[in-house]
Amino acid sequence: MSPSTPMDQSHTLPCHVGIIMDGNGRWAKARGKGRLEGHKQGAEVARNVVAWAKDLGIRQLSLYAFSTENWDRPKLEVRGLMSLLSILLPKTLPEMMKNGVRFRVLGDISPLPGSARRAVEKAMQQTEANTGIDLILCLNYGGQQEILAAARKACEWVQLQGDNQSAWASLTPERFRSMMWRHDTAPLDLLIRTGGEQRISNFHLWDAAYAELYFTDRYWPDFSRQDLQDALTDYASRERRYGLTSEQVS
Ligand code: IPE
Ligand code: IPE
Ligand code: MG
Repeated sequence: MSPSTPMDQSHTLPCHVGIIMDGNGRWAKARGKGRLEGHKQGAEVARNVVAWAKDLGIRQLSLYAFSTENWDRPKLEVRGLMSLLSILLPKTLPEMMKNGVRFRVLGDISPLPGSARRAVEKAMQQTEANTGIDLILCLNYGGQQEILAAARKACEWVQLQGDNQSAWASLTPERFRSMMWRHDTAPLDLLIRTGGEQRISNFHLWDAAYAELYFTDRYWPDFSRQDLQDALTDYASRERRYGLTSEQVS
């Protein structure tokens, strides 16, 4: 066991960790730099966090990289973020292969500029057979949009079943979830948000139903392996009751 491995946490280790990587802009501003410098540094940390998470035994990691609302930021910033993606993703591919990272995307990538979309598609194809850790990059992702898309599918499904009472009754939460964009991941166990804000900002709305929430003031570009470790240690101390009593779950 390496010194930074959580002490006997195997049973309390989250399977799926989601991170709202926030604070890039404020990190840059505090240093008199432009926002894009913050995003560049943030991208380096995103690269590292995948290796740390894998090392610590996490199976699935969702990183919130770009929300459906982020398109409304200044054009230059959006363009910068997209080119970061198309430049850094190919550069990161060799280490993803080395670490057994299976790269996946959550969100609609069709409106992304061609170069970014191609980089994403290539990374998905090349890493498809890897089994070390699933990295789910949330790109042009919105939780409400994902639920709405599932609701549309659900309506079609009910109609195909005959639009009767039994069809509606068969529309269980499990069936509904199977209609979401990415239903082959586990629900979120731990949701970390850096940057000091305490909100969800349209991230994984359905799948965070019973996630443990962890907020830290650390700006994303300063996030370290120790910060991830601290979040996991905190998670290990939580009692997840899923609506039951403490006696029932213990
Ligand atoms: C998060 O950092 C990265 C993205 C949303 C792309 P921000 O850019 O939101 O940083 P702050 O919140 O302005 O500091
Ligand atoms: C959430 O951060 C989106 C990402 C980290 C990609 P924002 O900075 O966009 O969220 P708000 O505006 O503070 O809610
Ligand atoms: Mg922000």
